[in-house]
Amino acid sequence: MKGGHALVTGAAGFIGSHLTERLLAEGVRVTGVDCFTEYYEAALKRRNLEAAQRSAAFSLLELDLGRDDLARLPDVTVVFHQAAQPGVRASWGREFGSYVHHNVLATQRLLERYRGAALERFVYASSSSVYGEAERYPTSEDAMPRPVSPYGVTKLAGEHLAFLYGRSFGMPVAALRYFTVYGPRQRPDMAFHRFCRALWLGEPLVVYGDGRQSRDFTYIDDAIEANVRAWSRAGPQAVYNVGGGSQVEVLEAIAVLERACGVKAKLDFKPLPPGDPPRTRADASRLEADLGYVPAVPIERGLEAEAEWTRGLYARSGR
Ligand code: UGA
Repeated sequence: MKGGHALVTGAAGFIGSHLTERLLAEGVRVTGVDCFTEYYEAALKRRNLEAAQRSAAFSLLELDLGRDDLARLPDVTVVFHQAAQPGVRASWGREFGSYVHHNVLATQRLLERYRGAALERFVYASSSSVYGEAERYPTSEDAMPRPVSPYGVTKLAGEHLAFLYGRSFGMPVAALRYFTVYGPRQRPDMAFHRFCRALWLGEPLVVYGDGRQSRDFTYIDDAIEANVRAWSRAGPQAVYNVGGGSQVEVLEAIAVLERACGVKAKLDFKPLPPGDPPRTRADASRLEADLGYVPAVPIERGLEAEAEWTRGLYARSGR
């Protein structure tokens, strides 16, 4: 690609680790940052980094962006800020403090660290959860953001901070609003990972509500491609929806996973938790117009890849 030196925050996470590998494959030097929060098993995150750590062009800094001295961060060509406290449904109550710390304070401190630096781009990982129950579907980037979860509020705050540094100090910011990303290494709290695990272990699948809620599920490789293109091709101070190009109900996705795993699902319906929007659907025309990209992986193919990956994690382990 273009060489250069990228900082990837959240490098041990689902999206961050895939992005790190892609950049390394393109000849980019990568400094990864991660603080290995306890939100899910650190062992899984260490495993995500195994391939990257075989590259001499990769180095890892273990630090908390919300607390530690960021003078340790190197001067780089581009920043991909993927680190966050994730999880829509877990963000209520006492947990909110960690969302503020990792999503708002950490973002502000990272922006301060690179304020005035000669960055080619600061890419902020935003979220479809900023829309909440959206004004209209498909939802374009200029729809009024009205999150329905505290998590969404913190991701929106981080996005606003990034654009504030863009407007005030000329930082070249792009925000990518991901729509429920899935595929190999998906976080263990997310629906498809949980469903696959339950299928492989012969346990019931917990379905929230009536299972008719739908998402514009986005395959991981599509989300990565959007990041790479945002580096070189994004418009100034641009926000992009990154959706998968389809609308799939939870029960439909389960039917696809049953076929992919060759296992019949037992369903355990539970009340829909607060903060879970009934529907997301991206209008991705800006992504196509500016970055020349249309997300390409259909749900059947993407779910097969995730089923295969989770088989390696659970099918023989008996966990
Ligand atoms: C996901 C991510 O977790 C967020 O970090 C991200 O910001 C967000 O997408 C986004 O795109 O904005 P979510 O859509 O809740 O949030 O993703 P999943 O955990 O994969 O849930 C998808 C759907 O499955 C939800 O409607 C949920 O109610 C349902 N679900 C989830 C179940 O029915 N059962 C489960 O065990 C888990």
